[in-house]
Amino acid sequence: MQQPDSLPRNIDGYVGDSLYPSSFHADFSPSSLDVMLLHAAIQPPRCGKQSFTMVDIGCGDGLGLIAHAASCPDAHFVGIDAMPGHIERGQRIIAELGLDNIELRCETFSDALSAAPIAADYAAVQGVWSWISPQNQDAMLKLISHSLNPDGIAAIGYNCLPGWTPIASFQKLVGALAEGLTGSPTERFDQAVALTRAASKAGMAVIGEEHFEWLAGLQAQLPADYFAHEYLNGHWQPLWSGEAIATAATHDLHFVGPARPDRLRDDFAFKKAQREQLQATINWGTREIMADMFLNCWFRVDLYSRGPAEQCSETAVKSARLDSFWIVNKPPSEAEYRTQTAAGTIRFDNQSAQAILKRLDNGPASLRQICDSGEAGTAADILNVADALFIAKLITPVNPSAANSSATRFNQWLLDPVRKMPPINAIATQHGPLSAPAGEIAARIGDINFRTRCGLDPDSR
Ligand SMILES: C[S@@+](CC[C@H](N)C(=O)[O-])C[C@H]1O[C@@H](n2cnc3c(N)ncnc32)[C@H](O)[C@@H]1O
Repeated sequence: MQQPDSLPRNIDGYVGDSLYPSSFHADFSPSSLDVMLLHAAIQPPRCGKQSFTMVDIGCGDGLGLIAHAASCPDAHFVGIDAMPGHIERGQRIIAELGLDNIELRCETFSDALSAAPIAADYAAVQGVWSWISPQNQDAMLKLISHSLNPDGIAAIGYNCLPGWTPIASFQKLVGALAEGLTGSPTERFDQAVALTRAASKAGMAVIGEEHFEWLAGLQAQLPADYFAHEYLNGHWQPLWSGEAIATAATHDLHFVGPARPDRLRDDFAFKKAQREQLQATINWGTREIMADMFLNCWFRVDLYSRGPAEQCSETAVKSARLDSFWIVNKPPSEAEYRTQTAAGTIRFDNQSAQAILKRLDNGPASLRQICDSGEAGTAADILNVADALFIAKLITPVNPSAANSSATRFNQWLLDPVRKMPPINAIATQHGPLSAPAGEIAARIGDINFRTRCGLDPDSR
């Protein structure tokens, strides 16, 4: 897609003359957030309903949010972003798809604060906090609080320490050198990397060949426009999670727990001795910093409730977890019943795991439905092994099927060669959007077994 002409070079220090690649982030889907919330004994804000409101703050072009809107006709979606090129692109796509349950607003975070509250159940804020100025961080946190219902939940993704420590010098020099250059953001980034390489070759203690090898690996996987947004921002600064948690609390956003599945359960994420250290650490913020040090974490997604969240009973949690719907991500014959985490190898080759995958191969189902079939063991067995299947990325939480979704239209539109749409890593389904490599979407949608597993309409090719 063409980039609009005459973009401002930056928005308050944030790269403004390049459009961020369209992205879908599965960890921010309400169905995934609900699983994480229930593990923290918090009732998900939509309470199992299909109608909910979700706001995406710093939404980019909103294509990921559009995939949600196409999949979930009973929910309402609002995206906010300051870059006119992003919002124009997203609004054009919404108009082409004829969706009426999503709006994108071209506003800065501070401008959006003067609009009426959105009363959202979920706020997604991905890739913003550690890239913007302290003033904008403050406005962003105020806006999250302003946009949420009293029992709403925010999922905030940001670069964190200590994982970025070895890269900080590289980012600093590339960003500083790019400042004085001309050309498109990608050209400035490439030139700045070349200058950094020359400086490193002169003999630099903190930037060496390993940085350029690491960058080459990323460049093979990620779109060129991503790099300008990651490295050329004037305010790029990874955060310590404990400090982020403390700052959010001053905006009435209370840390509930991590939102990424790799932190679903401490017994899967950490070794026993590490868990003992964490348990002995009373302060939440300090505990999370220690956890990040155990894992050398470089990116976090955290869950925050607006106001202190009420814990629900074990019985309510168990019941809600049994009601959760899931799809299987690959044919069961290709599944490996083990996964590697920082704690070691987790093995789950048992009757319950096999029965769950076998049932889900016929289409999405709730754990309760699987339990009721009597083939997968007790409810406790099913709940326990579903956790392992989730962190092993063998199953994905989804919504119950929605009637009248625009999922088929979204997928057809995405694959229309005439429109030349920006590539995105998402497929819409009646059960919510799913993550899929952009290059594999056509093949997946054309695969009858995939369509059965994901509950796509038979005519959705
Ligand atoms: C790295 S991109 C992330 C986009 C999207 N959330 C994603 O993860 O795919 C950060 C976004 O924040 C937006 N942004 C930066 N500063 C902003 C501000 N002050 N007000 C509103 N949006 C801003 C940018 O335009 C950009 O789209």
